[in-house]
Amino acid sequence: MSERTLILIKPDGVARGLVGEVVRRIEGKGLQLVAMELRTIDHATAAEHYAEHEGRPYYEDLMSFITGGPLVAIVAEGDRAIEAFRQLAGSTDPVAAPTGSIRGDFATATNRNIVHGSDSPENGIREAKIFFPNL
Ligand code: TYD
Ligand code: MG
Repeated sequence: MSERTLILIKPDGVARGLVGEVVRRIEGKGLQLVAMELRTIDHATAAEHYAEHEGRPYYEDLMSFITGGPLVAIVAEGDRAIEAFRQLAGSTDPVAAPTGSIRGDFATATNRNIVHGSDSPENGIREAKIFFPNL
């Protein structure tokens, strides 16, 4: 079953020069790039994307971080794309993520964990629409 996932290379990943590394892993896994753009998002876009996290203790830090510099938004497509990219990314806490995963290889802090990937096919469609409404 082909799925679409919304991937973000967050501002920390862009600042650290990891765009090529992350894209290489996405392509290497066999996922197809459908859309990709470098942009800085405003608070309204970030709030829509992270709506389910509103009220959490980390929410305000997350909002200022994700709007604080350019990120790369990607829509990738393929067989089980959601699960495939979540596996490439590793768990939310990078210290718990295995070596060989993006977070496991490049991060230590949960609030600076390099990448986002949609967590369900429904959210993949919802989040892709936020970043690429014309797709
Ligand atoms: P979440 O959806 O739980 O993780 P994932 O990105 O793996 O789907 O949380 C979204 C983001 O919120 C997470 O990538 C980083 C941030 N966050 C924190 O800063 N601290 C936390 O304790 C949690 C749970 C998330
Ligand atoms: Mg999530």
